[in-house]
Amino acid sequence: MQNLIIRGGRRLGGDVSIHGAKNSVLPLICSTVLLNGKSILHNCPALTDVYAALDILESLGIEWSMSGSDIEIISKHPENFEISEELMLKMRSSVMFLGAILSRTGRAVISAPGGCRLGPRPIDIHISALKKLGAVMRESGGRLIFEALNGLVGTEIVLDFPSVGATENIIMAGALASGVTVIYNAAREPEIKDLTDFLIKCGADISGGGTDTVVIRGVNRLDCAEHTVIPDRIEAATYMAAAAATGGNITLKSVIPNHFNAVSEVLRESGCEINCSDNEAIISAPSRLDAVKAVKTRVYPGFPTDAGPMILSALSTARGTSVISESIFENRFGFTDELSRFGARVMVFGKVAVVDGVNSLSAAQCNCTDLRGGAALIIAALTANGESTVGNLCHIMRGYQDLSKNLRMLGADITEM
Ligand code: EPZ
Repeated sequence: MQNLIIRGGRRLGGDVSIHGAKNSVLPLICSTVLLNGKSILHNCPALTDVYAALDILESLGIEWSMSGSDIEIISKHPENFEISEELMLKMRSSVMFLGAILSRTGRAVISAPGGCRLGPRPIDIHISALKKLGAVMRESGGRLIFEALNGLVGTEIVLDFPSVGATENIIMAGALASGVTVIYNAAREPEIKDLTDFLIKCGADISGGGTDTVVIRGVNRLDCAEHTVIPDRIEAATYMAAAAATGGNITLKSVIPNHFNAVSEVLRESGCEINCSDNEAIISAPSRLDAVKAVKTRVYPGFPTDAGPMILSALSTARGTSVISESIFENRFGFTDELSRFGARVMVFGKVAVVDGVNSLSAAQCNCTDLRGGAALIIAALTANGESTVGNLCHIMRGYQDLSKNLRMLGADITEM
C-alpha cells in the first residue's frame, strides 16, 4: 500500500475498537530480555515498529511468535548484547533495549537510534543515568559500547526532564541491579505503569510506577508472565480528532478515558460533546468547531505532544484562530507545509503554531513526513471537498493498525492504492 485515495466531506459515524498501545508494547517487548521462560502479551497492535522490536529480540537469540494480537516470547539469557545499526535505525525506541541488555548481560552495544524527524532526538539522559548506575561507555566507529562487568548498582537519579524512554530504560536497568534505584522526576505516562505492572508480575520489586518517583529494588532473577497491553490513548485521540474534523459522531470502544482527559477537554472547548464510561468514549461534534485559543502540549497528564498534529488539523476549519504551543519536540509542526496544500492557514513560529480557521479545505496531494503528522494529513483529506491523495504511508504503518479499514467502517470514502 503506497497511497490512500480519500474523497472527503463525509461525516464519520459508528463504532471503532482501539488497539493496544504502541508506546506500551514496545518497552514491554524490550523488558522480556530481563526474563526467563514464556511470556504472553495480549492486545498487541500489528505495527512495523512492533515487528522491528521483535526483530531485535530475535537478533539477541530470543524466540517469539505472534498469533492475532498475542505475542509469545520465550525469554532466556541473550546470546549476544549488540544491536545492529540496521535494526537500530528502524526506530527510535530501539534505545530502550539498552537498559535491559546491560542489566542482564553486563554489556551492550548500540548506535544512535533512528525515528521520526521531530528534531534532534538525543539520548544523553539515558546515557547519564546508566553511568550513574555504574556503566562505563566508550564510542568506537559510531557505536556506543557500554560495560558493567560487575553488574549495575542501584542509586538515586534525578531526571533533568521526565523523559519517557529514559524512565523506562532506568526501570529495566534497575530491575536486576544490586541495591535500590530511585528515579526522581520520572515520566508519569500510563505506559510507564503498564511496564512496571508487567515486571512486578514477573517478580520485580518496584513501587511508584506512573508517579514522579519510582523505586526499584533489584532482584537476582525475573521469571515471566501474561499481560494485556493497555489501550492506545493516542490512537483514540486520532479517531476523536477525525470525528471532530468531520462533524461526526463516533463511539470508541476498549479505551481508558482517563488516559486522554486532556485531549477530551480541548475537544469539549472546541464545541464537541464527549461522554465516557469505564471503557468507552462517545464524541459528538458540531458541524463546525470553535477555535481553541491556547493548546499547550505538556508531559502527562497534560495535553500529549503526539495528539497535537491531529487536533491542529481538525482546528484548521474551526471558527476563529487557534494557537498550539509545543513543549516537547523541536519540529513537531514539520507536517504543516504539507497541510497547507489543502488550503489550511497555519503559521509556525518555532514551537508555536497559529491556525487561522478557514471555511473549508480543498482536496490535495500530499506526503506524510512523520507518524502523527501523517495522521493529521489524513484527517485534512477526510475534511476536504474532493479527492485527495496521501503518500509515504510507511510512517502511518509504524503506529496505526487498520487505520484506513476502520475509517472506511466509520463511513469514510477511502481506498488504498
Ligand atoms: C516517547 O518518546 C514516545 N515514544 C513518543 O511517541 C512521545 O512523543 C514521547 O515519549 C513524549 O511523550 C515511545 O514511547 C516509543 P522522551 P521518547 O524521552 O521516549 C528529549 C509517537 O508518536 N530527550 O520523553 O523518545 C527529546 O529530544 C512517539 O508515538 C533528551 O533531550 O520521548 C524530546 O525533546 C513520538 N535527551 C523530549 O526529551 C534524552 O536522553 C521527549 O523525549 C531523551 C529525551
